[in-house]
Amino acid sequence: MLILGIESSCDETGVALVDASGHATPRLLGQALHSQIEMHQAYGGVVPELASRDHIRRVLPLTDAVLAQAGLPLSAVDAVAYTRGPGLAGALLVGSGVACALGFALGKPVIGVHHLEGHLLSPFLSADPPEFPFVALLVSGGHSQLMRVDGVGRYELLGETIDDAAGEAFDKSAKLLGLPYPGGPALSRLAQQGDPLAYKFPRPLLHSGDLDFSFAGLKTAVLTQVKRLAHAQLDGPATLHLADPLSAQQKADVAASVQAAIVEVLVKKSLMALRQTGLRRLVVAGGVGANALLREQLGDACARAGVRVHYPELHLCTDNGAMIALAGGMRVQAGLAQADAASEGYRFDVKPRWPLADLSAASR
Ligand code: KG4
Ligand code: ZN
Repeated sequence: MLILGIESSCDETGVALVDASGHATPRLLGQALHSQIEMHQAYGGVVPELASRDHIRRVLPLTDAVLAQAGLPLSAVDAVAYTRGPGLAGALLVGSGVACALGFALGKPVIGVHHLEGHLLSPFLSADPPEFPFVALLVSGGHSQLMRVDGVGRYELLGETIDDAAGEAFDKSAKLLGLPYPGGPALSRLAQQGDPLAYKFPRPLLHSGDLDFSFAGLKTAVLTQVKRLAHAQLDGPATLHLADPLSAQQKADVAASVQAAIVEVLVKKSLMALRQTGLRRLVVAGGVGANALLREQLGDACARAGVRVHYPELHLCTDNGAMIALAGGMRVQAGLAQADAASEGYRFDVKPRWPLADLSAASR
């Protein structure tokens, strides 16, 4: 069972081929990725229209590259999985349109995959795949959620952010420090030179007793601190130049302190979720899962609590086609994929907003 996967929900075009035969853990046969980061950097964030147009330019050459890597013809593909949502509508339409066209041409089914299900299952492609059930900490640019995962398509939301996502907190703080988009990796690099105890930033909802997050206040606290350090008299929206008067050491100290605040909240809430569910396995997925401090502190805390932590391979933490092909394959294996899409005339309707918990309702 060979599944071609196409990811185009945001600023990465990803294509991959996965072998999901029988009930074996799926195997990655080839993958290719084009990141649009450089293109969007000039604007300080993702420009949706430019993203869609670039997906159109990249998706077929990437598909050819993946098939060449695997040494297989397009006709060998048994099903085409694509990201149906959530994400940017125009960007999603590129992947779904191409997937349906390929499916129609091949006479093979298409599978609309939930982007977060892709992230959530991505550690199954690692050398140390998890076993169900587990708690998942999903931390990306658009989402921060704790889920209980009992199997493919069986997801229970335990807690989520009530405002900004963890990745957004990294990105917005980085912007205030004048760092390039996407801010997460840049901020964590700068933080290596800083003192995490230099500034005391809030740990929002840390003692709320539930498993929800809130990160919006953090960016205001960072803005206030940066202004204080710069003696800036600026009102209104922050500019990229606000941090200019700060010394390199001050910027590094702010970066280290804000990273410490985000990571502490993520670690403590993950452990709370494990205690509440009684589960002893944690899966960390999404772009922020690449953060070295998060990995270090989760590793320590989970070792003390006797919990095993599973991560996707580092290159599969951020958006990619492999996780979409994988999720499509695991859905087929679990008997959940709408493998009759062919009979629906390859109609595609993307879902820019799509709660992950809806998948559980659909599979009940
Ligand atoms: O999962 P992802 O690639 O895309 C979404 O689905 O949103 O996550 C992107 C997010 C961005 O906010 C980025 O800044 C953050 O992940 N990120 C990081 C790191 N690498 C990526 N945040 C902190 N530390 C990192 N090393
Ligand atoms: Zn993502």
